Amino acid sequence: MRDIKILPSLLAADMGRLEEACRQAEAASADGLHIDIMDGHFVPNLSMGPDVVRLARRTTKLPLSVHLMVSRPDWLADAFLQAGADTLLIHVEARCDPAPVLQEIRRQGVRAGLTLNPETPAAAVLPYRELLDEVLCMTVHPGFGGQVFLDEVLPKIRALRETLPGMVLSVDGGLNDETAARAAEAGADVFLVGSWLFTPEGDMSARLQKMRTCLQVALARGRSEREG
Ligand code: DX5
Ligand code: ZN
Repeated sequence: MRDIKILPSLLAADMGRLEEACRQAEAASADGLHIDIMDGHFVPNLSMGPDVVRLARRTTKLPLSVHLMVSRPDWLADAFLQAGADTLLIHVEARCDPAPVLQEIRRQGVRAGLTLNPETPAAAVLPYRELLDEVLCMTVHPGFGGQVFLDEVLPKIRALRETLPGMVLSVDGGLNDETAARAAEAGADVFLVGSWLFTPEGDMSARLQKMRTCLQVALARGRSEREG
């Protein structure tokens, strides 16, 4: 059975208390932390830079998944590799050839991931499959937290799971226990979750456990459907 991983996304945390947010995720037994980097060009929003990755790196032992929503990952990847990313996710729609960037990420001993926007077909990642440790399907249009999960992405997740059976498949955007379960059934195994986990009530641990249970059930159901 594939491993399920749930990573809280720092974008939904209180920006004035990022260290506390890192510790909260660790205390809640999260499987890592997701950090969203936006350049105001690839997406119409600005978020964090390498200093936040450095801060997370020195605050927690959790693996750091860094998501570059930037037009030129070829210019910017190195700063995030230096800052301590464990996984670096770039977009296939970015304005450069992904191959040399993915190669450089791996050369530095970091996991390399390629991300697909909701409307980008699964086939776009296939030329790069040998260079990839993870494929991320956006389940919202990137740029903002708190958006509604797009069910129309599910067939693409199913197609990727069939074509790349051994690949780590992650999903990002609009996830709660129900939408994440639908993604798990389709074949996703890593869940990047912002606003549903960073609630004002601060009950991350209970929510994480609830999501994990839902995902295990959904994953088993999805697998038996695919095999049956
Ligand atoms: C959106 C980001 C996501 C975001 C998800 O562009 O890539 O990682 O934090 O937030 P929620 O879970 O609130 O949709
Ligand atoms: Zn993200």
